[in-house]
Amino acid sequence: MKIPITKPIFDEHEKDLLVKPLESGWLVQGPYVKEFEKLFSIFTGAKYSCTTSNCTTALHLALEALGICHGDKVIIPSFTYIASANAVEYTGAEAIFCDIDLRTFNINIDDLSNLLEKDRSGSIKAIMPVNLFGLCSNLPKIIELAKHYNLKIVEDSACGLGSYIGDQHSGTFGDIGCFSFHPRKLITTGEGGMLTTEDESLLNKFICLKDHGASKSDLQRHQEKGGSLLPEFNVRGFNYRMTDMQGALGVAQMNKLSFILEGRRRIAAKYDIALENSPLLTPIVPKNYKHSYQSYVCLYNKSLDLDNLTLDKINELNIKRNQLMSDLENVGISVRQGTHAVHTLGFYKNKYDFSDNTFLKSYTADRLSITLPLYANMTDAEFDYVISNINNLIS
Ligand SMILES: Cc1ncc(COP(=O)(O)O)c(C=O)c1O
Repeated sequence: MKIPITKPIFDEHEKDLLVKPLESGWLVQGPYVKEFEKLFSIFTGAKYSCTTSNCTTALHLALEALGICHGDKVIIPSFTYIASANAVEYTGAEAIFCDIDLRTFNINIDDLSNLLEKDRSGSIKAIMPVNLFGLCSNLPKIIELAKHYNLKIVEDSACGLGSYIGDQHSGTFGDIGCFSFHPRKLITTGEGGMLTTEDESLLNKFICLKDHGASKSDLQRHQEKGGSLLPEFNVRGFNYRMTDMQGALGVAQMNKLSFILEGRRRIAAKYDIALENSPLLTPIVPKNYKHSYQSYVCLYNKSLDLDNLTLDKINELNIKRNQLMSDLENVGISVRQGTHAVHTLGFYKNKYDFSDNTFLKSYTADRLSITLPLYANMTDAEFDYVISNINNLIS
């Protein structure tokens, strides 16, 4: 049996809508992009949603729109996809890493508070909490700290669609939320991203900056008299626009989102039960949080004392974790490490002279996390195959 790490879910609806922009001839930022943005706002409760070419460009635009630039610093968790850090560095600002909480894989609030308290530079301008794997960070606490230190919040909600604290959707807590529609995410447009905000002036900046800095959109120009004259360009912008083919896919995918979320939560609950007595530490969901299970990420293994981590112990378990992942691959089951400890990756390690244990919890998550396959339409037979192989290999 071959079990992928995840699977996008498409049917005739995607195929039908995908050809519509080809038929109308409106290929970029047309009616399907508009419709996708509308559906996204309805689902998340965000006042404004604005598409981008992917989430990395959304993160970059968010920081640009907030005026983050050279000389500024932005705090990000050290366990995240490299794109979070890269987006900060694109602006000329410095990415300041903060360690995580191994129980949630999200930014550690005590470490964050210490970092802010000790900073005397005055150049920290924003926090970028990452709602990793479909679980919100402790956003109420982060908002408190941001208010106290007068900082902006850009939520990296690349994995956060369908994640909540109470009834509030991920990406709507901070000044700006950024989402990804890469195929590893709950819904996909191939490549694709979305910005959310409550602030109309930020929305207007997104619209201008993602379109080369144009003072007017193509649609506005087409609808006005004198459309033959090109718009003004008073700011340095980018081309971060979404195509209408991606928008059409997004519209079709939004119709499946409830089914996808329900399916992923159902399979995750089955994993929780089936792995209860296994050595894997399954995802922990704090009270009042709703996980979307963009990824089902476990920690190898329960014998690890999370409050007394040592490099020796982590490296010893890492060899066994890697063996387990390779054995699962050999029987056709795709697994992955959760994501990266960014401070251990060449560019950041060399630029800021980090060592592995500079952020030990992130290093642990990098070396000991294991993502299990999960997709909404995973069959019982596929699920049982994964569990029986894990049990066999671990015993
Ligand atoms: C936490 C996080 N941030 C940012 C990104 C970048 O998203 P995209 O691939 O849409 O640029 C990803 C993608 O996997 C991610 O996981």
